[in-house]
Amino acid sequence: MKPTVAPFPAARLRRARQTAAIRGMVRENTLTPDDLIWPVFVRDGDGIVEPVASMPGVVRRSVDKIAQAAIEAQALGIPAICLFPYTDPSLKTEDCAEAWKPDNLTNRAIRAIKQAAPDIAVMTDVALDPYNINGHDGYVVDGEIINDATVEALVKMTLAQAESGADIIGPSDMMDGRIGAMRQGLEAAGHHNVMILSYAAKYASAFYGPFRDAVGASGALQGDKKTYQMDPANTNEALRLIERDLNEGTDMVMVKPGMPYLDICRRVKETFGVPTFAYQVSGEYAMIQAAAQNGWIDGEKVMLESLMCFKRAGCDGVLSYFAPEVAKILNG
Ligand code: PBG
Repeated sequence: MKPTVAPFPAARLRRARQTAAIRGMVRENTLTPDDLIWPVFVRDGDGIVEPVASMPGVVRRSVDKIAQAAIEAQALGIPAICLFPYTDPSLKTEDCAEAWKPDNLTNRAIRAIKQAAPDIAVMTDVALDPYNINGHDGYVVDGEIINDATVEALVKMTLAQAESGADIIGPSDMMDGRIGAMRQGLEAAGHHNVMILSYAAKYASAFYGPFRDAVGASGALQGDKKTYQMDPANTNEALRLIERDLNEGTDMVMVKPGMPYLDICRRVKETFGVPTFAYQVSGEYAMIQAAAQNGWIDGEKVMLESLMCFKRAGCDGVLSYFAPEVAKILNG
């Protein structure tokens, strides 16, 4: 009698994994320099490149050096660079007026980059924390982070950045109503082509620790950011925030942090189908670098794998401190 069960596995899925060529044929996602947005730290002075202790491999650059870095990033095919200022403590005030000064560090860096590397998009961060004496993203009155007055200040900050030539505004403050107010402000001032990439689902995360050191805010922050950033336990709330920001006119949305929140990225992309980005934040970067420096993981492989996972989760791109290093590898 003939056996009724075939004497071989019905599906040999390993066939599609047998060589690099075959694996390439069936690969479902790709990672290219186009997927990267590079966050950089800018400080005052001239000719300065100084290391950030909590983020091995990451530096703070003076404006002239940022312009140079932008030229290199542009040559590597990185589409956008995102600016974060390290603000001198003497410029931090209760009214955060430095935030919308036309000649503040961020605005000078925007102009320098636009002049040196006109083809790379310049993204900015909109929140009051670099300029606030208490380290919060909004104004603090009697211990409360007040929403609407903060939004007014954020609009002023947005307009100053747009005037300086910013291509993409990145509100990271998590106040309510800010996207609509910024969009309206931009339209009224004739900046209808300036885009908004809202940090729509931004969690109150401990993974931002090294960043606060990089921008000189760790000592300054009083309390935590839990009344405006999201609870890491929530996911439906992320969808409500994304929907709200889209309705108010954001062009693109972001989930932050990245790797521990890939489930959120997936749900956002599947629900809305809009340009979706994730931020591989400072703590994620520092963990990979620390393990690599100890020889516990292969840093380069983990870096590439971590970024591919964002693509697999549905992201269109990733803000990553690894951007130039990755682009170099991807360009061969
Ligand atoms: C500030 C801001 C933060 C980050 C980006 N913009 C810190 C915070 O919200 O406290 C974190 C980025 C990182 O950790 O790499 N509004």
